[in-house]
Amino acid sequence: MKVMVGVSGGIAAYKAAEVVRALQRQALEVRVVMTESAQQFVQPLTFAALTGHKVITNLWPQTGESELSTDSMDSSIEHIAEAQWADALVVAPATANILAKFAHGMADDFLTTMYLATTAPVLVAPAMNVNMWEHPATQANLETLKQRGVRVIEPGSGQLACGMVGPGRLAEPEFIANAVLNALGRSHDLAGEVVLITAGGTREALDPVRFLGNRSSGKMGYALAEAAQSRGAKVILVSAPSALYPPAHCELVKVTTADEMRAAVLSRMSEATLVIKSAAVADYRPSIVADQKLKRTGPMTVELLPTEDILAEVVRRRKPGQLIVGFAAETENQLENGRAKLLRKGVDAIVVNDVSRPGVGFDSDRNGATFLTASTAIDLPEMPKRTMADRILDEVVGLRRPQSLLVELSGMESDAANIVDSQSEPFDSGIQPPISTRRQIMIE
Ligand code: CTP
Repeated sequence: MKVMVGVSGGIAAYKAAEVVRALQRQALEVRVVMTESAQQFVQPLTFAALTGHKVITNLWPQTGESELSTDSMDSSIEHIAEAQWADALVVAPATANILAKFAHGMADDFLTTMYLATTAPVLVAPAMNVNMWEHPATQANLETLKQRGVRVIEPGSGQLACGMVGPGRLAEPEFIANAVLNALGRSHDLAGEVVLITAGGTREALDPVRFLGNRSSGKMGYALAEAAQSRGAKVILVSAPSALYPPAHCELVKVTTADEMRAAVLSRMSEATLVIKSAAVADYRPSIVADQKLKRTGPMTVELLPTEDILAEVVRRRKPGQLIVGFAAETENQLENGRAKLLRKGVDAIVVNDVSRPGVGFDSDRNGATFLTASTAIDLPEMPKRTMADRILDEVVGLRRPQSLLVELSGMESDAANIVDSQSEPFDSGIQPPISTRRQIMIE
């Protein structure tokens, strides 16, 4: 989804970059429009570099300016196109001046013109001197805007840039991003859920300096942790070694080996309402771990012992209502192997990755997968992992909905013979075609 960030003046314009980053962490596409006074505080180039888009700074085309640093808008009706492009407009920081202009319908620059032209939700995050904030004119303008449906993200209280103390500080960027998500309808649909996520690739020691590992970076699991948290879940992230920073506020449990991951998962799984096992867990570990560094003495044979299958154990110990989602890394026959794994492990769903495809999967920022349940196969075409995380969670949330009847339509025609009872029908061991080639209507 797409968000236009309006940056108006004041020292808080510096914090707008953090707002942009917070929105991007939520997998939102962001563009920026700056008022003239905002440009006195921050270079448009900062935002252009952050978003990879030209920053809109003017209603009228400019000449002789670089594509990245200024608007260089092609036409003076671009604000209409941008107004239609945006799924939400958020102004952060919003000065007293911009609030007054919005309230009175003035349209003398790009931001104010776009405000009048957009039908998308509008949010304003005011930041200003406490006396300006408390002035009856500002409060009256805010009241007018609220009555017209503009969402006001109240400023915080504290020491202000002007030296005074009181309300007027720009709200926290994460808070602003959450308000935007709510306005977009991406609300807290995982509120109340405790999500246990495993991530990264486990390591099995061979000697004090060497280990058997795999190419997993943890990016998919960390993206899932961030997405689940932003949708209101409490997240416990059990992570094998990874270079990534965990999302703020999620509980991180660091492990190294498959055995440690098993212990961590089993000790925390009773708290979880949803378990997502995206870690690449070693299937084997060396039977002996040398105390000292192994010396090169010619050919060497290492005996490997199987590790415990953590996912299978989680399924055996599951409590009622607990959803369990596995991952499958496959290099061939993805759907057949994925379906077999789903049935063998007894999970509610499995995300099948084709790890042989270049540019996606292990250690990449992108992924392409199929979300398999016992009765459906949903194609998740190649996309950034953070977007994929939300798509996976969309499907997981869907599993919680009552599913009494799936009516399959061939083309656009319904056919009574194709009615499938998705609960009473035994698992079909055959491979279902991807859902994109079928058409289903759910009757609850
Ligand atoms: N898994 C696990 N414990 C293991 C191995 C895998 O919990 N010892 C989990 C992974 O986290 C993943 C799922 O099982 O959610 C499938 O992992 P994958 O490596 O694709 O399959 P394996 O079960 O290891 O089967 P194989 O390697 O034979 O394909």
